[in-house]
Amino acid sequence: MNTIQLNSITDSRGSLISLEANLTVPFDIKRVYYLFDLTNSPRGLHAHLELNQLMICINGSCKIKLDDGYIKTEVILNNPSNGVLINKLVWREMSDFSKDCKIIVLASDLYKESDYIRNYNDFINIVHSKNRS
Ligand code: TYD
Repeated sequence: MNTIQLNSITDSRGSLISLEANLTVPFDIKRVYYLFDLTNSPRGLHAHLELNQLMICINGSCKIKLDDGYIKTEVILNNPSNGVLINKLVWREMSDFSKDCKIIVLASDLYKESDYIRNYNDFINIVHSKNRS
């Protein structure tokens, strides 16, 4: 699991975390989106051809499963100081959202449906064929 410990600037007023492109976040940030009012339905269930992302659960908790086509990992995210890097060609599934769960995602590119791989068998075929060539 590619987790990043984010540096928290804390004083008597509270805590602050700053995310800077190509420093804390290892790519140019071209898009930010967030997930909230989550239900029992899992989300994700896709991979990307080129997109890299950093996911942070800034409130509450959730589970994230990652699969690079060979190794599967999972982690509970319940701390705004922990980020999970999800590089291209990694299948992800988020679930077990607490009622107050809020997730922010920083992405290396604009939204492009053509970058999604939404079928797991396609994902496995793509990853395995890239490693053969
Ligand atoms: P999707 O990426 O499938 O959500 P998740 O991985 O959280 O389950 O996106 C859900 C819908 O929102 C889908 O119709 C695409 C759309 N969408 C955008 O229009 N822009 C975006 O930046 C994102 C992430 C999704």
